[in-house]
Amino acid sequence: HPVRLADYRPPAWLVDTVHLDISLHPTATRVISRLALRRNPKGDATAPVLLDGDGLTLVRLAVDGTPLAGGAYEASPQALILRHPPSDRFTLEVETLVDPTANTQLMGLYRSRDNYCTQCEPEGFRRITYFPDRSDVLAVYTVRVEASRAEAPVLLSNGNLERSGPIPDTDRHYAIWHDPWPKPSYLFALVGGNLSKVPDHFVTASGRPVDLGIYVEPGKEARATYAMDALKRSMRWDEKVFGREYDLDVFNIVAVSDFNMGAMENKGLNIFNDKYVLASPETATDTDYAGIESVIAHEYFHNWSGNRVTCRDWFQLCLKEGLTVFRDQEFSSDERSRPVKRISDVRTLKAAQFTEDAGPLSHPVRPESYHEINNFYTATVYEKGAEVVRMLKTLLGDEDFRAGMDLYYARHDGDAATIEDFLAAFAEASGRDLSQFALWYSQAGTPRVSAQGQFDPAARTYRLDIRQETPPTPAQPEKKPVVLPLAIGLIGPDGQDLPLTLDDGRNLPRHVIEVTQAEQSFVFTGIDARPVLSLNRGFSAPINLSTNLADADLVFLAAHDRDPFNRFDALQGLAFRILKAGAASGTLPDAAPLIEAARLLLADSTLDPAFKAQALAIPGENEIAREIGSNVDPDAVFTARRALKRQLATALGTELEEAYAALAAPPPYSPGAAAAGRRALRNLALDYLTSGGAPEAIARAKAQFMAADNMTDRFAALAVLVQHDTPERAEALDDFYRRFVTDPLVIDKWLSLQAQIPEAGTLERVKDLTLLPVFSMANPNRVRALIGAFATANPTQFHRPDGAGHDFLVDVVLGLDAKNPQVAARMLSAFKTFRQLEPLRRASAERALRRVAATPGLSADVTDIATRSLS
Ligand code: ARG
Ligand code: ZN
Repeated sequence: HPVRLADYRPPAWLVDTVHLDISLHPTATRVISRLALRRNPKGDATAPVLLDGDGLTLVRLAVDGTPLAGGAYEASPQALILRHPPSDRFTLEVETLVDPTANTQLMGLYRSRDNYCTQCEPEGFRRITYFPDRSDVLAVYTVRVEASRAEAPVLLSNGNLERSGPIPDTDRHYAIWHDPWPKPSYLFALVGGNLSKVPDHFVTASGRPVDLGIYVEPGKEARATYAMDALKRSMRWDEKVFGREYDLDVFNIVAVSDFNMGAMENKGLNIFNDKYVLASPETATDTDYAGIESVIAHEYFHNWSGNRVTCRDWFQLCLKEGLTVFRDQEFSSDERSRPVKRISDVRTLKAAQFTEDAGPLSHPVRPESYHEINNFYTATVYEKGAEVVRMLKTLLGDEDFRAGMDLYYARHDGDAATIEDFLAAFAEASGRDLSQFALWYSQAGTPRVSAQGQFDPAARTYRLDIRQETPPTPAQPEKKPVVLPLAIGLIGPDGQDLPLTLDDGRNLPRHVIEVTQAEQSFVFTGIDARPVLSLNRGFSAPINLSTNLADADLVFLAAHDRDPFNRFDALQGLAFRILKAGAASGTLPDAAPLIEAARLLLADSTLDPAFKAQALAIPGENEIAREIGSNVDPDAVFTARRALKRQLATALGTELEEAYAALAAPPPYSPGAAAAGRRALRNLALDYLTSGGAPEAIARAKAQFMAADNMTDRFAALAVLVQHDTPERAEALDDFYRRFVTDPLVIDKWLSLQAQIPEAGTLERVKDLTLLPVFSMANPNRVRALIGAFATANPTQFHRPDGAGHDFLVDVVLGLDAKNPQVAARMLSAFKTFRQLEPLRRASAERALRRVAATPGLSADVTDIATRSLS
């Protein structure tokens, strides 16, 4: 039975304070919890006290200090119920035992490389102690942790450290942490272990000194310096851009090696997948550095968008996640290049979210029901959620947007809020009616928008006819028109934007037209010559847009649009047209317009190399499949793509050689955006120049691989080499393995690249790799690197026509489910695009999903994905 948004009821009981006393032990950790319970005046006045549990063993129970007799309560691993509470306000003391070593789900209290750590969002706290484990019960926590001094010299929890010291006559010690800010249980965290602290210091705008610490495995300290720098920049940025200051005396981050997701924003004690903390030039690529910067920022920004204002229930997850992704995107844009960041964010959005929204797992940004909340940490909630906030900013303008944010924080600080609360703040601050805009939260599916432009020389007008339609999605057959803020430019023959005047006197604040109806026309006046339309600039609305622009118009936009996103998009659009036709017919149509546009762009010395690298990259196989939409043959897509790549490489050979030579960077390596952009373009040139497989080209890639002084260049060369079945490939893979065998995060790159080789032997290779000691099904990073890459980034091999790729994934999912259902479900969602495949492969994927669905005893996580995928 699903949980439904419509069934929300306020909690019957509140918890004012929580005192936890946690005595760490590898297999029998004792948790004593003292809860100050109070009946909620706004809740059901007769309801019993109902505390959630998950796999708990109850040891002892006391009410106001008096032990409770057996008949006075009902306890099971899943719940603790007091049907007859002694009064409307009392203290409940609960003692439970948990086994962190046996916790392979990585939810609740578990061990990662012998360190103790927790993950409580969304429903992990109930695996530590009985509690009303819902996000609208906010309490003040005091936590005493104790452990063996040898086993866990470092003891951390949320808030500020009150006291710590040895426990006399034992080998144990303790620490007491107090967090003055009321918080829901999902923000609780505890860490114990042998960790090294990388210390730093920050003073907030109003003068509060904050001790910063990043805790890493001893020996890895030097790899945390970039993360620390990113943290301090994030703290300053949130003060400057959103007026938000930090609010405790300490801010700690702990890097752990076993983590289901990217990171977690626990109050004052963020816990991170070490992939998003650790970096050195020799071990991390430019992409890794950028990922660290954005995840550090994301989790820090949650301190306001998530912690100070949290979510009423898990249906409101986008309230914190969409907003916080928007905030981290803005941060990276300000720290790096805004256009390049926007292009890469839109690529991620389309790759992950548009595909999700076009398939059986489509759901609204704010879902209305769920079977397993862990399956809703999705691209739709995160990435589309961020787009919705971005649209709000586009519609309202910078000032009203900021005023709305300020009002939201002022009004809801300390609250567990809803999307309605969020929108009301913006409606009030701007005086706008946002009721239609709210559809973005409730309606699933990517709107399809068509824009037809018509120039009338006699009337000197340009008429734009827009139609929008959102396709049906699961449980939502009918859709209403949504609000589309479309940034627009009309470009004159000289390449300059024309002044925009509408015939009905409507003005165009910020050059954005607002489409609100299913069909709507806009007539621009005073147009002397046929302009070229540049619509949805900066991807101002997350839509599938089709226009009546000709190839020549796209070439013109690629050369002249002052909007960098649309310049990029024009080139990609040209490539998509060629690739779609090529995949359908088996022969590529004339690529001359694309080649010319690419040549001009490559030669333009005013452009940022990072931008060029984005614009000149041929769309990936998954992107092409998405554009084709149905009856996709991955082999045909692969062949068309490879042919176009070789054509471009041949036609632009001279220019690419020049770029490769000119962009070589002198040491030392710097992870900054400018140097990273040069490396990106140079490595793109290397990839093109090696695409034909010529021996000299392979030799050059091998030379770059051997000589590189940083992981970006070494890994880029390896990625090029693995595309070609040569002795150099085997040598480079061996060399890489030997260099980095003791460095799991680097081995992940090695696993991932091999999983992506588009050759018939890859499935066997992947199976062999699972047997290596460096691989482990128990570690989510390893599983994602090898299995995840195979299933999501190697379409020809995962979707082998004989179904062996599908069978393999199902075997992995079924094997993993009993240990880590969250990761198993994540892997299974690789099938989310199966309906777009041609019939043979589609049938194979469906058989594979049915095999999962027919397996008894599966987790709720995997059952939910299998059932919805098949629906
Ligand atoms: N709130 C975390 C974030 O920053 C994600 C935690 C999700 N955890 C989970 N087990 N689903 O995005
Ligand atoms: Zn988040």
